[in-house]
Amino acid sequence: MTLTLVPPPVPSRAAAGPLDVLGVPGQINLDYAATAPCARAAADAVAELLPWYASVHRGAGALSRRCTLAYERARQTVGDFVGARADDHVVFTRNTTDALNLLARALPPGATVVTFGGEHHANLLPWPRGSVRLPVPEDPAGAVRALDAALGELRRGTTPDRDLPVLVAVTGASNVTGERWPVAELARVARRHWARIAVDAAQLAPHAPVDLHVLDVDYLAVSGHKLYAPFGAGVLVGRADWLDAAPPYLAGGGATSHVGAATHDVRWATGPARHEAGTPNLLGAVALAAVCGALSGADRAALHDAEQALLARLRDGIAALPHVVELRTFGPDAPRVGIASFVVAGRDSAEVAAHLAAHHDIGVRDGLFCAHPLARRLLTEAAGRSGRRDLPPTALRASIGLGSTEEHVDALLAALATLG
Ligand SMILES: Cc1ncc(COP(=O)(O)O)c(C=O)c1O
Repeated sequence: MTLTLVPPPVPSRAAAGPLDVLGVPGQINLDYAATAPCARAAADAVAELLPWYASVHRGAGALSRRCTLAYERARQTVGDFVGARADDHVVFTRNTTDALNLLARALPPGATVVTFGGEHHANLLPWPRGSVRLPVPEDPAGAVRALDAALGELRRGTTPDRDLPVLVAVTGASNVTGERWPVAELARVARRHWARIAVDAAQLAPHAPVDLHVLDVDYLAVSGHKLYAPFGAGVLVGRADWLDAAPPYLAGGGATSHVGAATHDVRWATGPARHEAGTPNLLGAVALAAVCGALSGADRAALHDAEQALLARLRDGIAALPHVVELRTFGPDAPRVGIASFVVAGRDSAEVAAHLAAHHDIGVRDGLFCAHPLARRLLTEAAGRSGRRDLPPTALRASIGLGSTEEHVDALLAALATLG
C-alpha cells in the first residue's frame, strides 16, 4: 500500500465547531474505539497554550503560573464532566490502563476484586491474585444476578465481614461489541453487599454522559485519546480514602510534602499529587478538559441519536450480507455504543483489514481487541449461531463517533459486499 500524506483541510474559524474532528481527506477512519480523531476543541486548546508552555507546579514565572492554573482547571473540568463528588480525587494518568493499574495498587490490603470475563485486558489483568472473574452473562439482567450471587457468597459466613474490602470492576461499554453494561444496577447490587464499584468508561464516555454521582459508582477511568483528545492523558476519578492511604503510584518529585536526610524519612502528599510524581502531561490534561468542556456544552442527546442512526445503518448493512456475521454478547437489540465487530466467512480478518485499507482507504481494527477471553467466546458463539464452519479465528471491528457519516458506513458495507 502506498500512503500519500496530505495535510488535512483547515476549515475557516467561523466554520469550525469545537466538536469537529480533524482527519485526512480520502481516508475513512472507522477505528474510533482504538483511538478517536482529534477534536478541534483539543487542537485549539493546545495551540493556545503552547506559547505559554512551561513548568507545572514548579515555577513562579508568569508562564509557569498560567500552566499550573491551566492544569488545575483541567482537573476541575474533567471532574465536573464525569460528575465527581466534592471529596473525590481526580488523578491524571496516561490512559485507562494506567488509571486501573493505579487503582489496583491503591486497593487496601486483603481486598477482593470481582469482575467479568467480558472485560478489556486493562480491566482483567491489573487485579491481584484471588480476584474473582465471573463468566460472561447472557444478558444484562444475568450480569446483575451473577454479581448479586457472587457478592452474597463472598459475604457469607457466620460473621459476615463487612469491613473486608471488595471492589467490583466493570466496563461501561464493551470494546468488542459496543454493548452497554447495566452499570447503575450493578452499582446498586455492589452497595447492597458493601462493595465498591469501579467503571472502565474508556468506551462509554466518548458516546454517552457518564456521571459518578448519578450512577453511584466509586471510581471511573477514561482515556483522552478515545475521547478526541490525542495528547496522552487519562484519568482516574473517585473516592479519596483508598487513594490517600495507598503507597504513591509513582515515587518522586511533587508527590511528597517532606523529604528528610534519612533514607526513608519521607512524608507523602495526599490528594492527586500523591500519585502524580514527576512533571505532568499538561497538554494532555488541557486537551482532555477542552473536549470535556465542549461535550458538556453540546446537545448530547442529538449526538447520541445521530450516532445510533449510523450504527443502525452499519449493523443492518452487516446483517444483510450473508457472508458477514456480527459478534454479540447480549441480544441483537441490547443498547450499545457505536461499535460493531464481525467476521467475513472464509476470510482471514487481518487480510480483510489490509484489503480495506489498501483498496478502499478504510481503517478498521482486526484481531481479538485486547479482550481475548471475550472475543474467543463470541467467535465460537457466532459460529454456532450462523452455522458456518468457515469463520476465521479473529475478528474485525468498525467503530464510529463524531464526524462519522453515512458515506463512511456505506463505503465499508460496499467493500464488504465485494468479499462475498
Ligand atoms: C473498554 C476498554 N478499557 C480499557 C482500554 C484501555 O485503554 P488505553 O489503551 O487507553 O489504556 C480500552 C482500549 O481499547 C478499552 O476499550
